[in-house]
Amino acid sequence: MTTESIRTLPTPGRRLGVLISGRGSNLQAILDAIETGSLNAEVALVFSNRGKARGLEIAKAYGVPTAVLSHRAFPDRETYDAEIVKQLREHGADVVCLAGFMRIVSPVLLNAFPDRVLNIHPSLLPAFKGLDAPCQALDYGVRIAGCTVHFADETLDTGPVLLQAAIRVHDEDTHETLTQRILTLEHQIYPRAIGLLLDGGIRRQGRRILLSEAAERAAAEIHSEAERKPTYAQ
Ligand code: GAR
Repeated sequence: MTTESIRTLPTPGRRLGVLISGRGSNLQAILDAIETGSLNAEVALVFSNRGKARGLEIAKAYGVPTAVLSHRAFPDRETYDAEIVKQLREHGADVVCLAGFMRIVSPVLLNAFPDRVLNIHPSLLPAFKGLDAPCQALDYGVRIAGCTVHFADETLDTGPVLLQAAIRVHDEDTHETLTQRILTLEHQIYPRAIGLLLDGGIRRQGRRILLSEAAERAAAEIHSEAERKPTYAQ
């Protein structure tokens, strides 16, 4: 039994800073959830460390401000993160969502947004951290795979878990099909996890995140397209 005390996380404002490095499909899921009204939030800024990230085009299509800054121009992680914090503050971001942002963030960013930096990872953490997690899971031979939304900390894919969702692995799955099915699941849980944080009332005890009963019910309602067995070419 843990002896750590329970504290309620402060309810943040609803302006999101989304950090990306590439394709931006999770960014799109967030923007779609906002547009359809299932997520009550606003994207204040999409920030990319890569100018060629396709997610930047998605942001522009939705009329969201963007900023690009290569980490290569900075001497160290801390100086780079200080610049990200400056940009996020200038745009009035309250919460930071890492959405395929392929960099470890330093305490400079984490301390600027305490308990307000989320990350999504395509595995049931703590299994299969790092790159190509669905491929790692398939090659390992797991029968259940999934994805995790967690609070970021200064180590890769290790912070406290906010929400997870799971799917069965089928014998016919390949790296491509499993990656795609997990991605479909990510698009469902990330907006929902962000909504849980923004709605407030989340409590934390050590590493454990405690959800209200209503939040837990809402989280359990993820009906997944990804769970349906796909038809495979013979
Ligand atoms: C997503 O699968 C996300 O979970 C993963 O990168 C992909 C980004 O796709 N992130 C990590 O592996 C973080 N360790 P997207 O750019 O289309 O959202």
